[in-house]
Amino acid sequence: MTLDLDESVAQAMEADVRLLPLLPELLADLWELGTSADQVVAALESVGVEPDSTVLDLACGKGAVAVALAEQMGVRVEGIDAFQPFLQAARALATERGVSHRCRFEQGDIRNLLGQDEQYDVALLLSVGPVLGDYEQTVAGLRSLVRAGGFIVIEDGFLADGVAHLPSAEGYAGHSETLRRLTAWGDVVAQEVICPAEQARSVNRRNTDLIRQRARLVRASHPAFEQLIDEYVARQERETQILGTDVLCAIWVLRRA
Ligand SMILES: C[S@@+](CC[C@H](N)C(=O)[O-])C[C@H]1O[C@@H](n2cnc3c(N)ncnc32)[C@H](O)[C@@H]1O
Repeated sequence: MTLDLDESVAQAMEADVRLLPLLPELLADLWELGTSADQVVAALESVGVEPDSTVLDLACGKGAVAVALAEQMGVRVEGIDAFQPFLQAARALATERGVSHRCRFEQGDIRNLLGQDEQYDVALLLSVGPVLGDYEQTVAGLRSLVRAGGFIVIEDGFLADGVAHLPSAEGYAGHSETLRRLTAWGDVVAQEVICPAEQARSVNRRNTDLIRQRARLVRASHPAFEQLIDEYVARQERETQILGTDVLCAIWVLRRA
């Protein structure tokens, strides 16, 4: 079943679709909506991405990574996201940091961009989940946007050693099977950054605390949404429990064959 665009955003944000209008308020204290901008900068520097490279940031959220790359590496970034409030935040951040001439943020459905035979130097898909399908389908789609020798960067998860199957992390596999899926089209893993478990847990705990505090205010001003807000916070809390224990996060930089 294909999700419509709002459903796709809601799924990627682990929120009920009816909560989307309140999401900007609930996430007002977070810039990074999943991936550490510093880790992406370091990973791209380590594989030798040059200034002036062209970067496509698919589902860029509030632009934390895009703006950091433009600011710290001098690359040119095009960010695409479906959710207008996040794009507005991303444009404001680029202006504030003085890199709006190197960043462009546009609304779009990233599922419609695949297969367009583009020639970006780098394509990013960070903390977006299975919007483009499983890992093999995702890499196949991203390859159509990147030149040979360019980089595909994915931030997602894999099952920790000893975890065979997890209903709440459907579709994830162990480390070696994950690498096999990511490289199924002949691309090479140029860099892999596995987020240290304790770091993942503490970032998630901090983010969940910020969301919980905001949720109290939003609940008070939108009593009709009380139950949906509580469910959202509870989901964030459950995720904090599995991330860094049963599911480990990693940034994979693939050199496109
Ligand atoms: C968890 S956030 C990650 C944002 C950003 N990549 C980061 O790491 O901070 C997921 C993002 O996916 C976007 N999204 C989900 N489905 C999408 C689609 N089909 N097209 C464009 N954006 C989508 C959401 O709007 C949201 O900004």
